[in-house]
Amino acid sequence: MAHTVSVIVGSLRKESYSLKIANALTKLAPASLKLNVVTLHGLSFFNQDLEANPPADWVAFRETLQKSDAVLFVTPEYNRSIPGVLKNAIDVGSRPYGKSSFNGRPAGIISNSPGPLGGVCAAMNLKQILPGYTGPIMQQPETYLVGVGDAFDDKGNLTKEALEKVLKQYLDAFAAWVEQHRK
Ligand code: FNR
Repeated sequence: MAHTVSVIVGSLRKESYSLKIANALTKLAPASLKLNVVTLHGLSFFNQDLEANPPADWVAFRETLQKSDAVLFVTPEYNRSIPGVLKNAIDVGSRPYGKSSFNGRPAGIISNSPGPLGGVCAAMNLKQILPGYTGPIMQQPETYLVGVGDAFDDKGNLTKEALEKVLKQYLDAFAAWVEQHRK
């Protein structure tokens, strides 16, 4: 049976390249992976005061993670780090203390930017944050996608062959990683 992967998108933007990359990944994934794109619209701010009686949107997000065999983060870079919405999602998913819903699930990171640095700082920041809350984080191939601004047509379809090749390579490696480490 295919392993379920929650693909968490670090941008809320309607025309987000991160979202388009996540959607492209669902089409390119090998049969051993079932990718579900998870966007973070409507996920309320983490507030420790609400932990005893968590809002329905936190519960739903946590359940989505718990039903997954693995998680894959697709994120842009904001000011040399991850966007606040993604940090918030990690905070929500990581609680209650000792019961992270990411726990044990192998994780992957794909950063991107329309610019020349591919969001590498965001990816590095994520690698600092996640240990302790997820399963093992795939280290290679490191995937920081540069120049994604001209990779899609006006319907959001991936048209850049070089990028498609990189995504396929990543997915093959991630499929093997998930098979080895799945929850
Ligand atoms: C950016 N952007 C950006 N790009 C980058 O490569 N490094 C950075 O540090 C930043 N910082 C940054 C901060 C803020 C507040 C915004 C709004 C944007 C540009 C960013 O890569 C670009 O807007 C992307 O299109 C955002 O990703 P999505 O929404 O297309 O997925």
